Amino acid sequence: MKNQNAIGLDLKGSKELSLKLNELLANYSLFYQNIRGYHWNIKGEKFFELHLKFEELYNDIFLKIDEVAERILTLGYSPEHNYSEYRMLSSIKESKLVSDGKVAVEDILNSFKTVIVLQRDILKFSEKVGDEGTNALMSDYIRAQEKLVWMYSSFMKR
Ligand SMILES: [Fe+2]
Repeated sequence: MKNQNAIGLDLKGSKELSLKLNELLANYSLFYQNIRGYHWNIKGEKFFELHLKFEELYNDIFLKIDEVAERILTLGYSPEHNYSEYRMLSSIKESKLVSDGKVAVEDILNSFKTVIVLQRDILKFSEKVGDEGTNALMSDYIRAQEKLVWMYSSFMKR
């Protein structure tokens, strides 16, 4: 049908969804690079613990970056790939040099909040346009990240 994309979703809805997913992609890309910085620059008695945790986290986000980009392609649109574009689209900003573990974790918690809220918004929209694929992706991300927020928050309260 004329007003549908290759997977049978409404073109206008898919277009809007792809814009929101590009915004998520931009946020993940900045988030990813910020965590790499924390992984490298962290100092102090929790070094070994956090250095590893941050690596685990950026590897997870690395996979999500690819999944989100390929979801945009599946919907029939192009994922942004330039950092100049990401910096404009992302609410998460580039972090400065951080060597204090608590400052890094605090920033990670704020970034999680940003992406969780954005993903809930995407989920609401994907539900509206009947896009089960994006919907399932978002709910998986949200559930796992809400748990990570609990764990990182527990770390902060020690
Ligand atoms: Fe490393």
